[in-house]
Amino acid sequence: MLAGKRVLLIIGGGIAAYKALDLIRRLRERGAGVVPVLTRAGAEFVTPLSVAALAGHKTYSDLFDLTDEAEMGHIQLSRAADLVVVAPATADLLAKMAAGMAGDLATTLLMATDKRVLAAPAMNVRMWQHPATRRNVAQLAADGVLMVGPNEGDMACGEFGPGRMAEPLEIVAAIEAALVPDQPLAGRHVIVTSGPTHEPIDPVRYIANRSSGAQGSALAAALRDLGARVSFVTGPASVPPPPGVEVLRVETARQMLAAVVGALPAEAAVFAAAVADWHVTGAAGRKLKKGADGPPALALAENPDILATIARRAEGRPALVVGFAAETEDVTAQASAKRLRKGCDWIVANDVSEGTGIMGGAENAVTLITETDAEDWPRLPKAEVARRLAERIARHLA
Ligand code: C5P
Repeated sequence: MLAGKRVLLIIGGGIAAYKALDLIRRLRERGAGVVPVLTRAGAEFVTPLSVAALAGHKTYSDLFDLTDEAEMGHIQLSRAADLVVVAPATADLLAKMAAGMAGDLATTLLMATDKRVLAAPAMNVRMWQHPATRRNVAQLAADGVLMVGPNEGDMACGEFGPGRMAEPLEIVAAIEAALVPDQPLAGRHVIVTSGPTHEPIDPVRYIANRSSGAQGSALAAALRDLGARVSFVTGPASVPPPPGVEVLRVETARQMLAAVVGALPAEAAVFAAAVADWHVTGAAGRKLKKGADGPPALALAENPDILATIARRAEGRPALVVGFAAETEDVTAQASAKRLRKGCDWIVANDVSEGTGIMGGAENAVTLITETDAEDWPRLPKAEVARRLAERIARHLA
């Protein structure tokens, strides 16, 4: 479960720093990557070379090392990690963290990170029990910093009591627990439609649209990340389906409807597909030939509206039905009307008019229309739109 995870390990200056070397080994045995950072005091106890050798990664040690800053800024360094671990976390480091000081590389990383921080305190028992440390630990807990240890036992200084750094395997267990994501959708089933549909004219030709499936794929991944079982009903999209979802491949709107109905029951269904409005009636079984009669006349018939069909189901309607609306003008008004017309609960509306670069692009600017509100979201990467929408769905189903 640690495989592929990246831990930014800040090694503070304490006698327990030698245990950080074993911690690096244990993490790497489990497939985690370790990016080590040594504080100036930490470097008095273990050498950058031994840390780098065990981590298989360069050791970072000074904010003002200009080569490092050029290679990788401290912001980037702190964000590329899945978790920041401070071991040993000395009284001095805890105090700086609690106060929000950022005078060196380690503390700057701790201030700049957007990831969770796990600290393994290690200090003399009296320092641990000192009111200043009590205050700092309480502040850090309030700030959301996780703690493992310290343990009680004989101390290097000859005293006995709490202050010994947790053992490397205890820290590994705490790291694993910290990395388990929240899964509010565990045990829930969600259907997502995605991509364009292809409506055949003959065996080799079809009517299609420019949908890439990017938003649908991102949404399926975000719902999966929150623990949902996802049935991903996709037309022939150019973006591949995410791993870890059940992929149901279809071509036409009619097949898409059948696949969605077959995937029911579900607690939620999100219709991100760009479904063709029409199909060609009596599509030819053989390739149409160019002939003396000129081009063939194509007769079109309306496709089923999958969203409306599911939203209006008397029985087995998902508790939450979400549609998308790609509009080019008057987005909120058009989409609100669409919400009522289709009978769905929410509509995710976006402006796909020329020049927005949204259709087929990497970003999306949406308005979420619910029963009561129209919320404009800022322009965001499609993955971030997906993450926010998945969280809203999880909250709604909670
Ligand atoms: O009517 P319009 O195509 O603008 O509606 C868009 C919404 O309806 C999307 O959520 C789309 O997936 C869904 N839809 C559908 N079946 C159709 C047409 C649209 O599910 N035939």
